[in-house]
Order: sequence, then C-alpha cells, then structure tokens
Amino acid sequence: MKTYRIAPSILSADFARLGEEVRNVIDAGADFIHFDVMDNHYVPNLTIGPLVAEAIKPYCKKADGTPITLDVHLMVEPVDAIAQSFVKAGADIVSFHPEASKHVDRTLQMIRDGGAKAGLVFNPATPLGVLDYVMDKVDLVLLMSVNPGFGGQSFIESSLPKARQVRAKLDAYKAQSGRDILLEIDGGIKPDNIAAAAAAGVDTFVAGSAIFGKPDYKAVIDAMRAQLAQ
Ligand code: DX5
Ligand code: ZN
Repeated sequence: MKTYRIAPSILSADFARLGEEVRNVIDAGADFIHFDVMDNHYVPNLTIGPLVAEAIKPYCKKADGTPITLDVHLMVEPVDAIAQSFVKAGADIVSFHPEASKHVDRTLQMIRDGGAKAGLVFNPATPLGVLDYVMDKVDLVLLMSVNPGFGGQSFIESSLPKARQVRAKLDAYKAQSGRDILLEIDGGIKPDNIAAAAAAGVDTFVAGSAIFGKPDYKAVIDAMRAQLAQ
C-alpha cells in the first residue's frame, strides 16, 4: 500500500498550550507537524517564528522517541534569511513560495546546504513552470488548495487537476532519477475530500481546522486514514 502522511497544521491549535497540543496530535497519529509562518507582508496575517519552532522541536517525537518531521511552510518575503533561521531552529523541511524568492535555485540550495529538506509551494493560481528547472533540488512540492493566509477556508477544486499535473511530473522524474519527491496539499482538507486528493496523486495531507477544530484528534486522523485505505 502507498505511504500516506497526515500533517496537522498547528495554526489551528491552542497557542497557549502549544507543546501539549503538539504532543496530543502526535499521540493521535500525526506523521508531520506542519508549521505555518506568516509575515503580514507576503500574506495578510502574522504568526510564529523560529523561536517557537525551536521551542516545539523537542515535542516533535512519538512517545517511544521516534522523531516526527517538523514541516515548516514559509509564507514570507524575502525568504533566505528566515529560511536559514528555521534550518538552525531544527526544521526538517523548509518550504517557500517561489515568487517570494528572487533566486529560487539558490534558496533551495541554501536550505539543503543547511541540512534540511527543501520544498516549493504553489498557490492555486501560480503556474508550475519553475519546478521543471529545479526538480533535482526539491524534496517536496506543496500545493495550496486555498489562498494562503488563514486556516478554515474552503478547498479550491482546481487543485485536483493541478495535483494530477504535478504527480505526472514527479513520476517522470522518479523514472529518470530514482528519487522520490513528496506531494503535499494544504488547505480545506477534511475526511470527506482527502480521498479525492489521494486519487489525484497527493501523498501528504495538511489539515488544520479539520483536526484541531474537533475535540478528538485521533477520531479525525483515523477517519482520514480510513478514507485513504479504501
Ligand atoms: C494556510 C495555511 C494552512 C492552514 C490550513 O495559509 O498554509 O496550513 O493552516 O488550514 P485548514 O486545514 O483549516 O484549511
Ligand atoms: Zn501551510
């Protein structure tokens, strides 16, 4: 069976109890912790920075000590300095929006040189073209299925044919290089649309409000996995 990953976005967690929320959602079955960084410039909202990433890093592990990926999504412009701070803070993956970086190839290389994995993020209306030129430096493609900036928005349906397009590119690249690139989707993901995203080729699913908006995180993550198993 394919490996799927659930990546709860802590944007919808209770920030007054962040460590506990991270621990609870990992106990509930999270594979990644998705960490949304907004700068009130690239997006009209302001969230959390590298100090908070550093503070929650020790919580990013299962009860048995198995590490859980800290998946940082930068919605910031410019990218380079803050990306480096997140690599130092312990981010495992650092993803950024290509239009927010003047030199996409250099930013990808910089993140990887620091020892993290590098991701490229595409907004719903952003074309994929840049991906073809930097595939060998990308570890993850993050497809936005809402316009970035806020949790709790509705899923944009045109993300599904776009996910299929990315899947085809990633499969062709894998055939030629042998290397896997993750395909993650972010925005409006819930148990009732996760299967459609998986059918379009997505393997990693960010969900904020769908998980943290319910009292029983495990029930939601289990419901998502049940949909993926069909
Ligand atoms: C939006 C963020 C998302 C957000 C998703 O800009 O990148 O990660 O937390 O929230 P939901 O799952 O509620 O759409
Ligand atoms: Zn995100």
